[in-house]
Amino acid sequence: MRLKDKIALITGGARGIGFGFAEAFVKEGAKVVIADIDIERATRAAASIGPAVKAVKLDVTDLAAIDAVVRAVDEEFGGIDILVNNAAIFDMAPINEISEASYDRVFAINLKAPLFMMKAVSNVMIARGRGGKIINMASQAGRRGEALVTLYCASKAAIISATQSAALALVKHGINVNAIAPGVVDGEHWDVVDAQFAKWEGLKPGEKKAAVAKSVPIGRFATPDDIKGLAVFLASADSDYILAQTYNVDGGNWMS
Ligand SMILES: NC(=O)c1ccc[n+]([C@@H]2O[C@H](COP(=O)([O-])OP(=O)(O)OC[C@H]3O[C@@H](n4cnc5c(N)ncnc54)[C@H](O)[C@@H]3O)[C@@H](O)[C@H]2O)c1
Repeated sequence: MRLKDKIALITGGARGIGFGFAEAFVKEGAKVVIADIDIERATRAAASIGPAVKAVKLDVTDLAAIDAVVRAVDEEFGGIDILVNNAAIFDMAPINEISEASYDRVFAINLKAPLFMMKAVSNVMIARGRGGKIINMASQAGRRGEALVTLYCASKAAIISATQSAALALVKHGINVNAIAPGVVDGEHWDVVDAQFAKWEGLKPGEKKAAVAKSVPIGRFATPDDIKGLAVFLASADSDYILAQTYNVDGGNWMS
């Protein structure tokens, strides 16, 4: 068991990739707190895994709530060893049609929230003096722009940069900060992406998804199972010498 008795906090773990990570971390011996805005779904998700998982309500755009949740988890569990900044939203528009409301929402959830989660959790890790692991969810969208995906791409590029700065600041405290850049992962997130492409490109529902699946060198979408191995590795002592990196798990979509 590579995460025995570790305490992990996963934002947006009620479904999708974050839920897959929660299952995988528990299998490796961790206790997991899923912090999600959708508390009903998070509660069901936690119950489906078992008693090693607790669900808490957190809207990551609320900085006071971030501090309160991090403090409460630290007190109840005696520290936080692993943070996964996983919650994010998708929205799309070309640069000439972006809106301030979309900018505010995408950057509040995809960038501001992970920054302040890292601030709160790293301070708890520093106070406990036993180091820790922080994993930020980036995306292939952060590796290059896309004509129709201005704000989401920019938010994911920014999290790759924030991962580097945070890693360099926190290494002296024994905290490793790294990121994962998935390609396309099947699930409700991609239902949203497909519906938005259908609107912007005049496609039928499912058409974009089918075309994208064909374009991945490995020939299919990922599932959360395809991503979880790297998350366990980055959360474990096996990655102690690794920091400031963003790893692609994308079936060969991006080569770097
Ligand atoms: N699915 C993909 O194809 C893909 C590809 C690359 C990167 N990613 C990234 O991986 C991560 C997880 O993706 P996913 O596909 O599992 O997403 P998802 O949309 O299925 O799940 C996101 C979760 O975040 C929660 N959430 C949303 N807003 C929140 C808020 N304000 N406060 C707290 N929780 C909130 C949702 O309730 C949900 O449980 C995201 O960072 C995403 O950008 C996903």
